[in-house]
Parts: sequence; structure tokens; C-alpha cells
Amino acid sequence: MMQPDAQTVDLDQVSLEQLRNEGLDYRRVDPADEPALDNLTRAIARGFIEEEPSEETVIAARPGQAGRRLVGVFDATSPQAELPVATVGSWIAPVTVPGGELPMWAVSEVTVAGTHRRRGIARAMLEGELRAAAAAEVPLAGLTVSEATIYGRYGFGPATWHTRVSVDTRRAGWAGVEPEGAVQFLDRDATAVALGELHERTRNSRVGEIPGWPLLWQQISGAKPGEPHAAAIRGVRYIDGGGELRGAMAYRIIESDEDWARSRLEVRHLIGETPEARAALWRYALQHDLIGTVIAQLRPVDEPLPWLLADARAAKLKTADHGWLRILDLPAVIAARSFAAPIDIVLRVADSLGFTEGVWRVEAAAEGAGRVTAVPGAEPDIELGVAELSSLYLGGVSARSLAEAGRLRGDAAAIASLDAALHIAGAPFLSIWY
Ligand SMILES: CC(C)(COP(=O)(O)OP(=O)(O)OC[C@H]1O[C@@H](n2cnc3c(N)ncnc32)[C@H](O)[C@@H]1OP(=O)(O)O)[C@@H](O)C(=O)NCCC(=O)NCCS
Repeated sequence: MMQPDAQTVDLDQVSLEQLRNEGLDYRRVDPADEPALDNLTRAIARGFIEEEPSEETVIAARPGQAGRRLVGVFDATSPQAELPVATVGSWIAPVTVPGGELPMWAVSEVTVAGTHRRRGIARAMLEGELRAAAAAEVPLAGLTVSEATIYGRYGFGPATWHTRVSVDTRRAGWAGVEPEGAVQFLDRDATAVALGELHERTRNSRVGEIPGWPLLWQQISGAKPGEPHAAAIRGVRYIDGGGELRGAMAYRIIESDEDWARSRLEVRHLIGETPEARAALWRYALQHDLIGTVIAQLRPVDEPLPWLLADARAAKLKTADHGWLRILDLPAVIAARSFAAPIDIVLRVADSLGFTEGVWRVEAAAEGAGRVTAVPGAEPDIELGVAELSSLYLGGVSARSLAEAGRLRGDAAAIASLDAALHIAGAPFLSIWY
């Protein structure tokens, strides 16, 4: 699918005016202007409470910003006026949706300096991003969040969830397959390449995924210069019985001071193209000598790991929200996805920013794409906010759950029919932070 280029999209004039009235300069940072880009990198690190990045780290971050639409907010009265007091970066990424993919305005690097917090700068930047995305006719925005309380007010809702897994290896045992292929070590650069290749090959099989980028895989595998603990990061791949690459894993072992023979293995990324590859990599981690605990973040909520263990209770699972979405163009997102059952209902959507506000008839045939028509004045079957609608869109949460929590209102039959239509096989999942 051809993606429009976010870098060609103009700054939002409403936000520019709002920030100018605060004495602040809202402007684009050219990724080709290295001193300006490096200051943006320093401001982002400060915003995410990291230590001052070394020159090596700042330079290493440059390629990760290529192709992004970078925006800084500058305060000319600051003694460090060249360092933005707020930052945001965005690009347009295809997100996998049921039955296809759709351009998504990916928002990242949202920071506001401690000296300028709670003056409405993040609000101006976020609303500016959403208006810019809508002006570019991008139907959906997405982000991953530091805190679950920040983005609902802009109409974002959690749409994919992840599980943190912690396994007591002494208790776990193994009840899974005996893989036919082989696990082999890779150097850090080769691990980055293998992770990137496998992610690209598999991302369309998981609703909610977006593409990664080379620097992300280099960071995960420890190949990015200046990456903390890089020397401790190791990589392996799994090749199947025919010698084909089917899986890869980057991990780090943290030695235990108390009992060296019960050290901790932290999986940084585990990806398998086949169930056998995933099982083989899990088995490698769990049966690694001198390891007492294996920990992995960012696993899907339908992770089959406990079923691979002789003692499923050796695995402790903790689930949290991960990928958040914000619908901007309801007819476009409904037309882009397939539906599991026929539907014909009227929704009243509340959207304080106006993009999806209104009364809409949503129709689809089973297995078909949907159609949305504005029906102002029609009696709605279901009333909900755009954040809840955005959470429902990928099929990861049921309308019934949201109704029970008082997050939407409607007729029970209409709620059941919405759930039947939105249902997907396999939980939506996003395996990376962005
Ligand atoms: C989160 C952050 C960007 C907010 O910036 P800010 O300029 O202080 O936010 P604003 O003044 O524009 O606040 C806008 C609204 O969000 C709310 N808000 C801001 N930060 C919040 C937080 N951390 N948790 C909950 N609500 C928050 C404000 O109360 C305000 O609410 P209202 O307008 O509905 O009354 C800033 O605190 C920050 O940089 N934090 C550290 C980095 C981070 O977590 N970034 C987010 C990455 S996903």
C-alpha cells in the first residue's frame, strides 16, 4: 500500500497560534539539520527522564528520525533556547486491521519539559497532530503510551494489549513439541537483520502490528551504538528442518548476586514465523543453564506459552494496554476492515474534537467490508465516545464489557450484533514500542 509522506504535511495553524499566544514557537525540525536534530534528541531524552545522552548516542539516534515529521516547541527566553521545551514526532505507518491494512498516523516522542508542564503544550501538540493527520486524510492515529491516563481525552482508546510473562524455570518443565530445526547464535547486527526480516514477514498476520525500522531492531539486539548493556545482549535464530529462517530472539542475562546458578534471562524480543519456531525459542530460553527465571515483555495476550509447560503455574502472566488508536475518519476505517457477521446498526458517536461526531449507520455483510452513512437525527442503537469506538475497532475488547463498565449505552441485541461483527480470530497485538 502506498503511504502518504507525513513530512509533506503542514503544521497545524490552530496549535501554532495557541502556542504563539503563550510566547512559544511551534515549528518543524528538519531531520537533515543535524544540530537541530541532535537538540531534539537531547530534549526527548530529558523528557523521558533519561540521563544526558553521550555524543555517540545522539549521533546514533539520527537514522531513526529519517522520514519522520519532527516538531519542537521553543522558548526564546530560555538560556538554552535551541533546545526544544516540547517535542513530538510522527510518520504514517500501515497498521494491520482485520482483512487488510490502513494508513495510521503514528505519534511518538511526546515530551514536555518539566519547566513547561501543565500549561496546555501537550494538548496543543496532540490536537495539532490529529488535525494534521485528518488534513492529510489519514483515517486513524496511533501511539504507545507511558501512562494510561493521558490520551483518552484526545479520543484515543487502548486497542491492543500485551502480556508480561515470568517463568520459574525449575518448575516449568516442557510439554511442547520437540522442534526439528536448530537454534543458532547470531552476532548483534545479524540478529537485528533477522528480527527485522521476520517482523516484516509476519506483521500482516497479526491485527494491530505496524512495521518496525532498522534502528529499532539494532536497539533491541544491542547493535545500536551507545545502547545500554549492549555487550550483555545476545541473539539466536531458529532454522527449520529445511534450513529456512523461521524465528529469532534477542535476550540479556542478568546474573543473580544471591545465586548465580539462578540468574535471570530477559527476552528483549522473540519472534517466530511458525508455532514450532516460537516453541523452539521458548524452550531454548527456559532450558538455558544457570537460569532461574525467564522474563518477557510484549507477548500477545493469547500467548500459548503456559500450554508448552508441564506445570502451567510456573508462568505468571500480567496483562496491560499497549497500542492505542484514535479513529479520525469513521467511514474510511469501517470500509477498510472485514466483519465476521452481518451488521446493520446506528451509532451515536461523541467526539469533542469533531472528527467522528455524529449519528452513523454501520452496515456490513458477513465476511464483507463495511459501509457507513451519516444519518443525522436517526434514533441510535448504541451511544459511545470515539475513544471506546477506537478500542472496539480491532476486535480486542467486547462492546458487552464496555457496556457493563458503563462506557457505552445501548440495546442488548445491538451490542451483541456489534460484538459478533467485530470478532476476530486471535487477539490484536503490537509487538513493539514506538
Ligand atoms: C505527559 C506530558 C507530555 C504532558 O504534557 P503537559 O504539557 O504537561 O500536558 P498539558 O498541560 O497539555 O495537559 C493536557 C491535559 O492532560 C492532562 N495530563 C497531562 N499529563 C498527564 C499525566 N501524566 N497523567 C494524566 N493526565 C495528564 C492534564 O491534566 C490536562 O488535562 P485537561 O486539559 O483535560 O484538564 C508531560 O508530562 C511529559 O512530558 N511527561 C513525560 C514524558 C511522557 O510520559 N510522555 C508521554 C509519552 S507517551
